[in-house]
Amino acid sequence: MSLRTLIVQRIRNQGPLTTAAFMDLALYHQTLGYYTRARRRTGRAGDFYTSVDVGPQFGALLATQLDEMHRLLAATGCPAFDLVEVGAGNGQLGRDLLNAAESTYPALYAATRLTLVETSTAARAAQPATLGRHRARLAASLEAIPDQVCGTILANELLDALPTHAVTMTSEGLREIYIDLTGDRFVERLGPLSCPELADYLARLDVVLTPGWRGEVNLAAADWVRMAARRLQRGFLMLIDYGHTADELYSGRHDGSTLTTFHRHLVGSVGDDPFQRGGPAWLAQPGEQDITSHVDLTTVRAVAEEEGLDVLGLTDQSHFLLGLGALNEADSGTEPGGVEAVKHRLALKTLLVPGGLGSTHKVLLLGKQVGTPALRGCSFEARTVETRA
Ligand SMILES: C[S@@+](CC[C@H](N)C(=O)[O-])C[C@H]1O[C@@H](n2cnc3c(N)ncnc32)[C@H](O)[C@@H]1O
Repeated sequence: MSLRTLIVQRIRNQGPLTTAAFMDLALYHQTLGYYTRARRRTGRAGDFYTSVDVGPQFGALLATQLDEMHRLLAATGCPAFDLVEVGAGNGQLGRDLLNAAESTYPALYAATRLTLVETSTAARAAQPATLGRHRARLAASLEAIPDQVCGTILANELLDALPTHAVTMTSEGLREIYIDLTGDRFVERLGPLSCPELADYLARLDVVLTPGWRGEVNLAAADWVRMAARRLQRGFLMLIDYGHTADELYSGRHDGSTLTTFHRHLVGSVGDDPFQRGGPAWLAQPGEQDITSHVDLTTVRAVAEEEGLDVLGLTDQSHFLLGLGALNEADSGTEPGGVEAVKHRLALKTLLVPGGLGSTHKVLLLGKQVGTPALRGCSFEARTVETRA
């Protein structure tokens, strides 16, 4: 049975689905989900690019930040350095980090116990092969974050891939958007809120929503941050994602929902799509396309603080990587003027360029029982979205 047919039957039998339930099936159904079925969904042969796909430069720069975090933790008596990457896919970023640590930060390399956390069994199975000679550094490949992490929990483009609820303000108040059927076509329909947490979430943000406004409330992202904060015994949480502060996300600027799909590098949205014969593009091909939404960094930060974490920095990816020395890396290890040098510079440009990954992606750095050190990734303080608390 196709995933589409399965979802159609589910709606016929049980009624309309919340957008979170639809996304959960589309992306993570245990056999047919978009992420469940594949080792890797990104890159040229996939549906979209992440910073990891741009080249090893992203991992190499992050290794500089991890080296500093390792030294700070070692000074507090942590014997080893747990590096827990969540949403690790096939282990590509883990490999790039270990390559860079091995060549540039031998103490970090020696201390690192790598745990790759990934829900897709197909992607997990591919991790040892991707790590190659570093596979001995892989302490565990898991479905969930282990307890008592002493080190850094890192997630690149995880929170934006978690199933989210969608809501809209009407003249009768806040309503939830559900996925229903017209014939066998998926359509959106308004209904009452499926849980009171949705209204509570928005009320805490103190945002003014006028009739016609539509947006996402990602309860799963908040829950994930809470869980990660609890499993971190001492160390750092580094989150890199498409994101905005709540005043920006829940304002006129993002008035039309941030739900976005990626299929073979074509972008779709909540607007109509010809493949859906007039229905919204984001519902068109469940299981065949990625579905994402932008992250509400204000809530993520607030949840982390409630759990006792300190905010060490919130900046955009461009300034984060510049703080880590991206410009010093511009010619590193390549013959000046050669093809590799040009490729290397182009990769750095892709990671840094405003309007692309450099500004759409934000970096939130949090610490637990490590004080409030000034981290190197936040050293471009003049241009930081927000500096240390
Ligand atoms: C957009 S991909 C990002 C992959 C990789 N981090 C990168 O930047 O190239 C999101 C990944 O997170 C995984 N994922 C989703 N929810 C997860 C969870 N709760 N725990 C671990 N992995 C999860 C998905 O299966 C998918 O591989």
